[in-house]
Amino acid sequence: MDLKVGRPLSASEISSLLGEARERTLLLTAALSDEDLRLQHDALMSPIVWDLGHIGHFEDVWLRENIRSGDTGSEGLRGIYNPFENPRAVRDSLPLPSLPECRAYLGDVRRAVLDELGNVKLSGGTRLLDNGFVFRMVLQHEYQHNETILQTLQLKQGDRYAAPRQLGPPAVAPDAPPADATVRFPGGSVTIGTDDRSAAYDNERPGHVVELPPFEIDVHPTTNGAYLRFMEAGGYDDPAYWSRAGWAWRDQGRLVAPKHWEDGPHGWQERFMDRIVPLDADRPVVHVCYYEAEAYARWAGKRLPTEFEWEVAAAWDPEQGHARPYPWGEDEPTPMHTNLDALLFETTPVGAYPAGRSPIGCWDMIGNVWEWTSTSFHGYPGYETFPYPEYSEVFFGDEYKVLRGGSWATRFGAVRNTFRNWDYPIRRQIFSGIRCAQDG
Ligand code: AVJ
Ligand code: FE
Repeated sequence: MDLKVGRPLSASEISSLLGEARERTLLLTAALSDEDLRLQHDALMSPIVWDLGHIGHFEDVWLRENIRSGDTGSEGLRGIYNPFENPRAVRDSLPLPSLPECRAYLGDVRRAVLDELGNVKLSGGTRLLDNGFVFRMVLQHEYQHNETILQTLQLKQGDRYAAPRQLGPPAVAPDAPPADATVRFPGGSVTIGTDDRSAAYDNERPGHVVELPPFEIDVHPTTNGAYLRFMEAGGYDDPAYWSRAGWAWRDQGRLVAPKHWEDGPHGWQERFMDRIVPLDADRPVVHVCYYEAEAYARWAGKRLPTEFEWEVAAAWDPEQGHARPYPWGEDEPTPMHTNLDALLFETTPVGAYPAGRSPIGCWDMIGNVWEWTSTSFHGYPGYETFPYPEYSEVFFGDEYKVLRGGSWATRFGAVRNTFRNWDYPIRRQIFSGIRCAQDG
């Protein structure tokens, strides 16, 4: 898969990228029963058939209507697929289509889009079309909902989701640094964000220079083994490690262990969809909320990185004096670089992707688990909404924390060093983990 970021896309490239995205959506949902598609499995999530219909409606609105209307598009999402009019918790009471109806709708939209592709002036002239932006936006939307669907499937009760696994686990590199290794960034002027208008979201722009003090950051994400030591040291029972809001939530949310951990006859187990495995000390901890991440870091005598520190650790090449799009450079991700793209359906031990190292020596920055940062979600200086405020701008505020780096469930085209995800600090449905930093 090649998204050719920064370049225009031809009609045949667009059609094959859209086709590949749909193939994956259908692969992930192929084996689900009608009931599993229609049920609201968790108040936090949509019925999966809503995600499917919403993917189609988003494509219809952007690639058929807004593509013609110039600079930023004028149509928003309508009816049952408007996420603001219909919050997730009520989506099971909407008049959702049956699965065959939904499939037919997706197919109809897609055929109409492909039919019209020949009449669209792909070389641009509008900011939506320039360099293929609107096509990559629609692709990324489908990719993002793939991850949302996987969160729902991981949450679902009853018969577990039979994950269509297509990859086996990688081998751990013999020369990987130990789990507790750290690296130092000596501080200085760095570029954060990007000016790319072909794939990046508005919240990643503009690229801007930031002066960062020196810091140390963990080479690997926090492992289950390290997190278990925090638990066994009474980390969940000592308010000294928790922020005030975190401690209140630990009480109210009855937090005792990461979500999807199960107490088995021989100790803790971790569930990945339909697989329950004894807790592997070498895999990154996953399904922790921000407050747990914060408490763990304090127990470890550290703190969470700011999102700028995170981005520098992933992207900054001190020798060249510039930021890389991916930790390893310019190449789009492959299964050699990282645990991304959902086909493993679980986390992988730290130290398994030497080819994915960042210039300053961090592993697993992209892929495996999302990483909580200490930064709230706001626009960068000079932020400009494009093409619609409901993607980023309406979420700017201190109530959301930024996560970086993508997880095993993130599709290749949906993440890069500048990509910013966000959620409430109490959320654990995300494939979210921890990487600690320290003043340096
Ligand atoms: C970027 C993951 C926070 O799911 O709310 C999907 C992505 N936006 N459809 C979300 C998104 C519109 C978004 N996150
Ligand atoms: Fe959406």
